[in-house]
Amino acid sequence: MYSKIIGTGSYLPEKILTNRDLESMVNTSDEWIRTRTGITQRHIASEDQVASDLALYASQKAMEAAGLSSKDIDLIIVATTTPDMVFPSTACILQNKLGIENCPAFDVQAVCSGFVYALATADMFVSSGKCRNALVVGTEIYSKIIDWNDRSTCVLFGDGAGAVVLTQSDQPGILSTHLHASGSYSDVLSVPGSISGGKVQGNPYINMEGSTVFKFAVKVLEEVVQEAVSKNNLQPSDIDWLIPHQANIRIIQSTAKKLGIPMDKVVIAVDKHGNTSAASIPLALDIAVRDGRIHSGQLVLLEGVGGGFTWGAVLLRW
Ligand SMILES: CC(C)(COP(=O)(O)OP(=O)(O)OC[C@H]1O[C@@H](n2cnc3c(N)ncnc32)[C@H](O)[C@@H]1OP(=O)(O)O)[C@@H](O)C(=O)NCCC(=O)NCCS
Repeated sequence: MYSKIIGTGSYLPEKILTNRDLESMVNTSDEWIRTRTGITQRHIASEDQVASDLALYASQKAMEAAGLSSKDIDLIIVATTTPDMVFPSTACILQNKLGIENCPAFDVQAVCSGFVYALATADMFVSSGKCRNALVVGTEIYSKIIDWNDRSTCVLFGDGAGAVVLTQSDQPGILSTHLHASGSYSDVLSVPGSISGGKVQGNPYINMEGSTVFKFAVKVLEEVVQEAVSKNNLQPSDIDWLIPHQANIRIIQSTAKKLGIPMDKVVIAVDKHGNTSAASIPLALDIAVRDGRIHSGQLVLLEGVGGGFTWGAVLLRW
């Protein structure tokens, strides 16, 4: 038995923050941001929105596309770095918003690799027959953990959510999943603050060594894509669509170049919503499914890297 994605959905908050808007907030320029990152705008959640609100909209669209209703879902996994609260999990809050009475629901915290981790986990539940229909969501409100005075990070991130419904199938589906982590890099990309004694202790904003992240990302993304294709006796050139984590156009281009994958086989959405962390892969996937680029039978590779460091890939037949 395999697991197969049968519906995708996404949601971006209404408010758009352009590079020009950022020029009036910090010492930056549209030209610097576009040439270094490929980003032209990002979406920002309203003050009263929480990650489960964004997740709800994306989930409803994914379930509608799958032709399923809430009562059909028997597993919810939410990947997020910006949960609604310390606990309960955003997955439990989403479950309640969806009106689902009882099914396992939990969060996965693997930062920008979160969706790949969540999908790999859901695949194990579904392909083993433990669950029939899993809802897998990436949802983030990074605008809450950005220092809006720090030009080196505030231009990079945005808010959004993406979701898929994964169901049992006798045809592939997910072919293989590949997860990695190396905690020795935890200081390179982090939000080091925590809550203790009724207060935030330490820095509650993103702290990043940009060039170290860049080099590491290109190296491990190439490696994990090679690992995924060779596990299936394939070559990178067999991939119909590469759906990378949307952090930075230059990371995406460098990875594709090393793999010999032409850019017209790579789905790009970073220009329109910046780095939405765990939401970025399902957002890009949903865009390419809905605009008709991805067809039945095609080979699709999802890959991501993020704080931890964590990295991973999912290879699937659409
Ligand atoms: C962040 C990143 C775009 C910076 O690009 P870079 O080419 O490495 O630029 P540098 O960090 O070398 O900085 C170059 C200069 O630009 C400046 N700068 C940084 N942010 C700026 C901004 N928003 N606007 C204008 N100048 C900026 C720096 O202060 C530095 O100035 P200096 O030379 O006077 O010190 C790049 O390192 C990157 O994309 N890293 C990966 C980040 C990422 O994807 N993180 C998430 C992974 S999941």
